Amino acid sequence: MAILKIARMGHPVLKRVADPVADPTSPEIHKLINDMIDTLEDIGGAGLAAPQVHVPLRVVIFHVPGARIALEEGEESRGREGIPLTALINPEIVPLSDSMAEGLEACLSVPGLAGMVPRFTHIRYRALAPDGTLIEREATGFHARVVQHECDHLDGVLYPMRMRDLGSLGFVEELRRFEDKEAAD
Ligand code: NI
Repeated sequence: MAILKIARMGHPVLKRVADPVADPTSPEIHKLINDMIDTLEDIGGAGLAAPQVHVPLRVVIFHVPGARIALEEGEESRGREGIPLTALINPEIVPLSDSMAEGLEACLSVPGLAGMVPRFTHIRYRALAPDGTLIEREATGFHARVVQHECDHLDGVLYPMRMRDLGSLGFVEELRRFEDKEAAD
């Protein structure tokens, strides 16, 4: 087990296009994924991309808590199961409609900040799993958002680069403080 150091915005590894993985089943890739899982569990968050731990390869991990899915999709889906921790190797995304939605995002490589980011609301993604099998899924809502955010890291894109209005960028502590105040009013 190893907890890896997170690269922050400004580090060149976050700006480059990551290389495809030749063999998803290799011990090196399995060690990388296990270390990324240890790191994500330690630091907390929805996902992590290999360039964020200074490895320029096309690998991401993510999970979506069930509560988050229910919140996105309304009351009737309350208690719906989330997406368990998933590793995607050489992922590809295809938007299934032109529809986009703004949502608040944060990133371990941009610590302390959050901002509103437009993302496709309905996508299909395919990738290889660590056992070499093909993963092919459709995703909506937060699930689609997380996958787009993590895969952007593989092309040197951080969420502030996708924002339409930098006015919504702020420190999470402040956003929370004033959100609570508004809720109380
Ligand atoms: Ni990120």
